[in-house]
Amino acid sequence: MGGIVQSETLLAIKYSRGSLEILNQLLLPFQPVYDKITTVDDGHDAIRTMRVRGGAPAIAVVASLSLAIELNVKSFVNKAELNQFVKEKLSYLKTSRPTAVDLFNTIGKLLSLSENFLNDTVLNVEKSKLKLIEFCEAMLQTDVENNKNIGSFGSEFLKNYYKSSSLSEGLTILTHCNTGSLATAGWGTALGIIRSLNEAKNLSHVYCTETRPYNQGGRLTAYELVYEKIPSTLICDSMASALLKTKNVNAIIVGADRVCANGDTANKIGTYQLAITAKYHGIPFLVAAPSTSIDFSLENGSLIPIEVRNGSEVSKIKGLDEGDGKLRTLKISADGINIWNPGFDVTPADLISAIVTEKGVFEKLKDKNVFNLKKEYF
Ligand code: MRU
Repeated sequence: MGGIVQSETLLAIKYSRGSLEILNQLLLPFQPVYDKITTVDDGHDAIRTMRVRGGAPAIAVVASLSLAIELNVKSFVNKAELNQFVKEKLSYLKTSRPTAVDLFNTIGKLLSLSENFLNDTVLNVEKSKLKLIEFCEAMLQTDVENNKNIGSFGSEFLKNYYKSSSLSEGLTILTHCNTGSLATAGWGTALGIIRSLNEAKNLSHVYCTETRPYNQGGRLTAYELVYEKIPSTLICDSMASALLKTKNVNAIIVGADRVCANGDTANKIGTYQLAITAKYHGIPFLVAAPSTSIDFSLENGSLIPIEVRNGSEVSKIKGLDEGDGKLRTLKISADGINIWNPGFDVTPADLISAIVTEKGVFEKLKDKNVFNLKKEYF
């Protein structure tokens, strides 16, 4: 594949032109199995069933690469036929998951690219197809670059915030859900800041929440932290306030699935309560997200569609049976109880100290409780 080099570290997505594989996150941390994605249908299914996940970036990248894979093996008689094919595939991919906006932002860009090629007299159908494939491939590289920038901006922000003695011992951070290599094309957003702090020897310790009901923290973030030998401890979600009360935690850093223009942020369920406890305990609460996770069209968080998932994720749990080493699903709650299982919650902007993007750190408008995120800043 033209010029793109993927790193050798933990990869959620392996791609070279004509070949796409995703690390099946339903089997992690117990079995590292890569599933082949050969069609858009496969890509849709992997996203819907959460074999690939991570809200924002990873979903958008896999959706577009699944399109690239199909385009690569298909021929079109003319650009109108190519455009029709792309439109149909993208409108199907749109139905895979509702909350993370990266998917919709990417779909919008691909649609307008394909429409523009229709009127381009220089590009023939083959070249148009190639340019669409290249656009999808470029996302892998761009996402990693964005994450590295988020990592440096976020770690610098915290280093400036804690100029004093706490920095000499390194910072202690609490994070939620999974925002690392498994949730992105590599490095990660919130976990990217943690990686950058660790690389600069400014990290003392990371606490990660289990992130019930799906356990992205216990299964995936813990896996990444152990894999990279970052000093870390797992806690249950219900322990966060006690942790802030009793240990010297310097900041909470989370990712985002959709950030509105005013800064209200949808992220994994449980994020909102962490922002409240951060405010109560007087520590910074940072949201780390690339601009692809910003929905400039939404004024505030009440407009974000929140995915409500199957109650069985709450009433059952999947784990490794230590007896025979097999993966098993166990019931863990009383039959007949009603279950509410929203996948995300919205943290209001006034609880967020700063939003760290690939272009820099945004803080709230002076004397106001909102951010002012505009497309032209990115
Ligand atoms: O596991 P998901 O796809 O349901 O959850 C999304 C997330 O991983 C996050 O909410 C994450 O914190 C944001 S994006 C890197």
